[in-house]
Amino acid sequence: MRALSRSVKGLTVLVTGAASGMGRATAAVFAADGANVAVTDYNGEGAEAVAREITGGGQKAIGFKLDVGDKDAIEAAVARTVEAFGGLDIVVNNAGIAESRALEDPGYEDYWARAVNVLLTSHQRMIRAALPHLRKSSSPRIVNIASTEGLGATPRNSAYSAAKAGVIGLTRGLAIELGREGITVNCICPGPINTGMTKGIQDEHKAIFAKRRTALGRYGDPEEVAHMTLSLCLPAASYLTGAIIPVDGGLVAKNG
Ligand code: NAI
Repeated sequence: MRALSRSVKGLTVLVTGAASGMGRATAAVFAADGANVAVTDYNGEGAEAVAREITGGGQKAIGFKLDVGDKDAIEAAVARTVEAFGGLDIVVNNAGIAESRALEDPGYEDYWARAVNVLLTSHQRMIRAALPHLRKSSSPRIVNIASTEGLGATPRNSAYSAAKAGVIGLTRGLAIELGREGITVNCICPGPINTGMTKGIQDEHKAIFAKRRTALGRYGDPEEVAHMTLSLCLPAASYLTGAIIPVDGGLVAKNG
């Protein structure tokens, strides 16, 4: 039997949207396991603050602004990470925006363009920029964060659902394309999670929704998703690719 490592210690990860919520938790769990972490976010000050927060135990992290809607900025962020840590092994495409818009609402067209750019196009651009470095890694891993909204849908959310379904398709397509090189590409579909994105929903409404829709009867916490992301990025996770994994308290499993 081969000994496969269950640690990302010494590997380098770049996380997008890491100033808040699941991205922040992801940066923290990777740092706690000894990875070098590039904490990036549209909110540059927030990214810097998270990098400071997670280096408390002597871990290595850098934090800086990255708008994933900007192709050149993505390429620069990859270069900056490689310069700081000497390589790049893992990419976590996590940054996201969510707005409620019905098809005929004013602004639908604009939101569609932004949602597709930030939630989907950014993933392929980040992966393309990272690829030359992932190819040099002993354990190259890509995790894309989609949503249970990419598997089903709720009202007034079609642009978001379409972009997230696109992330699922991109994950499968690139898993097939990059598989022969040993690069794994997997996708997590979070269900309802307590983050910045859902903080505007009243606790009472969250509780009603979670009891009705999830098996566990509650919202999830960001670290419960982050630990799944870490698991998918372990050197030991070398035979898992093209997987679409709901981390949703049983939401997609529940019909009644
Ligand atoms: P959050 O709002 O706490 O964090 C999202 C982060 O992305 C923020 O720090 C924000 O500044 C950043 N961001 C937004 N636009 C950006 C851009 N153009 N470039 C770089 N960073 C940008 O939200 P959360 O929930 O942690 O979101 C993480 C991912 O999880 C998103 O892709 C979201 O769509 C997805 N998701 C969230 C769910 C939830 O219930 N919270 C459920 C399913 C999926």
